[in-house]
Amino acid sequence: MGNQIKVRIAENSQAAANDVASEFARAIQCKPSLILGLATGGTPVEVYRKLVAMVQNGQVSFSDCTTFNLDEYVGLAPDHHQSYRHFMQSKLFDHVDVTAEKTHVPSGVAEDLYQECEDYEAAIRNEGGIDLQLLGIGENGHIAFNEPGSEVKGRTSVVDLTENTIAANARFFDTIDHVPRKAITMGIGTILEASKIVLMATGRNKATAVARALSGGPGADSPASYLQSGEDVTFVLDADASSELPDALIESAEFIF
Ligand code: F6R
Repeated sequence: MGNQIKVRIAENSQAAANDVASEFARAIQCKPSLILGLATGGTPVEVYRKLVAMVQNGQVSFSDCTTFNLDEYVGLAPDHHQSYRHFMQSKLFDHVDVTAEKTHVPSGVAEDLYQECEDYEAAIRNEGGIDLQLLGIGENGHIAFNEPGSEVKGRTSVVDLTENTIAANARFFDTIDHVPRKAITMGIGTILEASKIVLMATGRNKATAVARALSGGPGADSPASYLQSGEDVTFVLDADASSELPDALIESAEFIF
């Protein structure tokens, strides 16, 4: 069992994004060659917007940072407008001083996807591991694309997306039929090796998954609950995402208003 997960609760999603962006900026200021683990999806968009502003006004620089994204859809080329590589370029990489070769997103169109997974793990290992990992959480408790039932020791692999995840991500595609059915994802084991993990969750639709992840012990029904065995894990929530937390967790949380 790891150390107790720390919980910070912000008034709203903007305040939560401010908090996470400031934490990431401070970490980069302390160690300019930081190895960052990054997430896509709706949740971190505002965090990246704030980091872009901080880089543009000279507060922080990504020039020595290396980044590894959590996941990518199988079958989408890097320039596909819904690929996670494209997301990262348009939300962060194209607007900051990061070195292109130091940004890593698994390739969903590699000829040998299984080799791609092994190479991705090796690339993380070669950099000495991830210093600071940003995560979101799915309504079903997934982290990256590790769906319920995933192995706690899992490494980067090709996975099937659940119907629930396909439906949740359909909002980014023209129709649900365009949502890929498979993805490459870092495993829970890969994620748990990060020195520090920050999971951000906003919105009422995440409240049940957040409450389960933080209470009731680690279990396969909630991949995010395995973060309870992490050494240095923080959940940054807005009030809505914290609305189903048990009283004891609310009492021990830090409020950032
Ligand atoms: C994205 C990822 C996913 C998302 C999760 C929440 O790289 O790994 O686990 O973090 O699906 O997505 P949003 O933020 O869109 O609610």
